[in-house]
Amino acid sequence: MNTEKFEKLLNEIGDFIPETKESIESFRIKFLGKKGVLTDLFAQMKDIEPALRKEFGQRVNEIKQHAEAKLETWRNKFDDATTVAPNIDLSLPAEPLRLGSAHPLTIVRQQIIDIFIRMGYTLSEGPEIEDDWHNFSALNFPPNHPARDMQDTFFISDTMALRTHTSSVQVRVMENKQPPIRTISPGRVYRNEAISARAHCFFHQVEGLYIDEGVSFADMKQTLLHFAQEMFGAQSNIRLRASYFPFTEPSAEMDVTCFICNGKGCNICKGSGWVEILGCGMVDPAVLTNCGIDAEKYTGFAFGMGIERITMLKYQIKDLRIFSENNVRFLQQFSGMN
Ligand code: PHE
Repeated sequence: MNTEKFEKLLNEIGDFIPETKESIESFRIKFLGKKGVLTDLFAQMKDIEPALRKEFGQRVNEIKQHAEAKLETWRNKFDDATTVAPNIDLSLPAEPLRLGSAHPLTIVRQQIIDIFIRMGYTLSEGPEIEDDWHNFSALNFPPNHPARDMQDTFFISDTMALRTHTSSVQVRVMENKQPPIRTISPGRVYRNEAISARAHCFFHQVEGLYIDEGVSFADMKQTLLHFAQEMFGAQSNIRLRASYFPFTEPSAEMDVTCFICNGKGCNICKGSGWVEILGCGMVDPAVLTNCGIDAEKYTGFAFGMGIERITMLKYQIKDLRIFSENNVRFLQQFSGMN
């Protein structure tokens, strides 16, 4: 009995991978067909010595079962598949879909916006290329104020510049609408600064404005305290330090309880327990008048914050240049956070 021949047949069956549905049929015809290899082998049985016949029959049967099983497997696989892709295992799990994630600045901007929207503020937007009036003059910047200087402002012409803050949007709102006004203006702003870990030539702000009859400094404090507690947690407190802006009087800078150490003092707040997050103040009556609002009747407050700064504090990011580097390993860490 030719054992080698049997081995070869078994291997051939074992290695069989069909290229197409038709090759499964060819396989069937070759091994299991009426004139196939197995029929032929069974026909040879009668010529085998009687002593060996039983074993021969067993071997042939073994090959037959092997071929039938193989046929069955491949038929099932091809029935499941609509396209013919023989060497793809369709039972494997699919490649995971890579979803994008919101940029950290987008996440934080949206958190800030949501808090003020819940307090009844509207959203306002304006142009990034601004005229001198909306960016400076209406906001009480004297003609020779250093902020107008070439060092801070990207001028496009004698009278046009890239806006240096979104207070310009608030001027536009005041010019077009009478109080009550409650609005925030998120957007990109530009300053001619050397790029470093802490400063960039562009960044993002959210500024806010509230004007109505009888609006007081206490209203501003309470609004900003509420904002801080919503943004950084109910345990947050705020403190105001006197400051100066041409368009607000009095003006202040606001600190919030350091949300990394909860006010105990750490390297983020440089041991003070407080971190500065925004500028604010009562809108200067001259600004109201410039924008056609009756300064005798109305008062208001304004505030402005940098989204980069808040994002850096919140996520302990040490270098703001990474926000504009499109570094996927950095950005992916924010997936699912919005
Ligand atoms: N516009 C100021 C800035 O860009 C921020 C600010 C807004 C301060 C409103 C006071 C009131 O720095």
